[in-house]
Amino acid sequence: MANILVLYYSRGGHTAHISRVIAQQIESKGNHCDVVNIQDKATIEWSKYQAVALGACVLYGSYHKSVFKFVRENKQHLSQIPNSFFCVSVVARKPEKRIPENNTYLQKFLTLSEWKPQDVKIIAGKVDYPSWPWYDSFMIRLIMKMTDGPTDPTAIIDYTDWEDVKVYGDHIVELATAVPA
Ligand SMILES: Cc1cc2nc3c(=O)[nH]c(=O)nc-3n(C[C@H](O)[C@H](O)[C@H](O)COP(=O)(O)O)c2cc1C
Repeated sequence: MANILVLYYSRGGHTAHISRVIAQQIESKGNHCDVVNIQDKATIEWSKYQAVALGACVLYGSYHKSVFKFVRENKQHLSQIPNSFFCVSVVARKPEKRIPENNTYLQKFLTLSEWKPQDVKIIAGKVDYPSWPWYDSFMIRLIMKMTDGPTDPTAIIDYTDWEDVKVYGDHIVELATAVPA
């Protein structure tokens, strides 16, 4: 049995939801998984875990500053066990943007982050204009207009491939249990 940690930053709750589905998948195979919101500033007992995944949503082309602060403060812990980073964005609704080399948001994280994850995953997020503040909704609709996405202000579209999220959960277990070469 592996003990796995899933950390996340979520603004609207979708990355939190993805993190919980990853954890459910990990636990469905007889493992244990803790899910922690990095903004809760919980004390983490790093030595308990055999692998860690950290997820963050993309906001205006980057990530919330607390994501970079967390990785700066915890880069040694993050690197000491098998580790993975997953980023959540609506641009990843396009299959070609789920390829790491084609995704500028992932590349931006890899450049700016002081933690260099051994493994990465790109996950399509959710459009939820009615739940977003008017300014955010307006700005994202503008971006969507330029990128052939949905612009209807009432649109709520979940682009996440939930089966693929479960496959990623299995992958994290594989990272945790792989015998070093
Ligand atoms: C304020 C704001 C800015 C966003 N900026 C981007 C962006 O630059 N590129 C993108 O692909 N998605 C962008 N998104 C979409 C989010 O990454 C997506 O909705 C994600 O599912 C949000 O996750 P969360 O609910 O955990 O915050 C943005 C969403 C919001 C609300």
